[in-house]
Amino acid sequence: MALEGKRADMVVHERDPFNAETSRYALAEGDVTALDAFYVRNHGPVLELDESDWRLCVDGLVERELELSLTGLRERFEDRSVGATLQCAGNRREGLVAVRDIPGEAPWGPGATGNAAWRGVALVDVLRAAGLRDGARYVAFEGADTSPEAEPPQCFGASIPLHKALASEVLLAWEMNGEPLPAVHGAPLRVVVPGYIGARSVKWLQRITALGAPTENVFQRTYRLLPADADPDQAPADAGIVLGAVAVNSDILVPADGETVAAGLVDVSGYAFAGDDRRIVRVDVSTDGGGKWQQARLLDDLGPWAWRRWQAQVALEAGRAEITARAWDSAAATQPEDPAQLWNPKGYVNNAWARITVDVKS
Ligand code: MTE
Repeated sequence: MALEGKRADMVVHERDPFNAETSRYALAEGDVTALDAFYVRNHGPVLELDESDWRLCVDGLVERELELSLTGLRERFEDRSVGATLQCAGNRREGLVAVRDIPGEAPWGPGATGNAAWRGVALVDVLRAAGLRDGARYVAFEGADTSPEAEPPQCFGASIPLHKALASEVLLAWEMNGEPLPAVHGAPLRVVVPGYIGARSVKWLQRITALGAPTENVFQRTYRLLPADADPDQAPADAGIVLGAVAVNSDILVPADGETVAAGLVDVSGYAFAGDDRRIVRVDVSTDGGGKWQQARLLDDLGPWAWRRWQAQVALEAGRAEITARAWDSAAATQPEDPAQLWNPKGYVNNAWARITVDVKS
């Protein structure tokens, strides 16, 4: 059954809170992920906010506190558009769960990723209007949704370093793919932090605060990479690597793992995403577990903040075949081979080689 205006082929991980990923077939459909197929990641309820009552508050280390209505925001600041891919830090967690169970975390596949055209105003323009005071080093965002996952329950929040907050690509968006932002994606206004993990793109935005340190909001800390032997419930507040910029990653979307294909030349396609201000420069595909690699064809360059889709043709003989892919970014970083080396207790940042197995019929 379709939920929240989404297609019936979404992979629903949870209904309350609503968490669903895009099917690999919908992901493979085009450069831009359709609104009714775009993944949804929530830590609390989906809010239906009344746009006319809604206000955005800007405070903290600013010269002037601001309270802005949506109309005020639209009238006062220049419209900006950015094509950007959102990717959750839990994307491809299923590959880590296959190594060792991760209790309490959904086994997301490659579909906690989507690419959209966003429109709104630049965060930097709003910060300039408020005027930053000395000592401002981070910008925090607070959503209006209260999450029962926090103890005690608290609003979902995040922060980003000032250099990113001042970059023109960071939007306060009210439009997605040319349509008003749907409630499930954070209407009337959400943050879009291109190149950073999805958790920093706060939905149902109600407050922006300039701070001297990262926000104390529990969800800022939840999204951190802990060592494999850490207990997430007991780990000290400063343990682990707090996640910001996305690490280079890719996955194979077609064929699907376990599919049957005809022997001969087989079309293989997928996506690759570099994160932050890096670009995808190469994708390699192998049919012998990484002994030999052939280069995939990179499809249209959709701009600095978007994924890069790719295609390759591989020659397969009858039997079982494994197809592997890995991407390289403009910092010459590539994906590690083995998910076992990446396992961590919350199951974040699985960017191990993409691998599928297919049955090849003659
Ligand atoms: N913002 C709020 N207010 N509440 C949330 O639960 N989830 C975050 C982020 N922003 C979340 C949020 C996470 S973890 C991700 S990956 C993205 O939203 C997902 O955005 P989407 O649901 O629009 O795809």
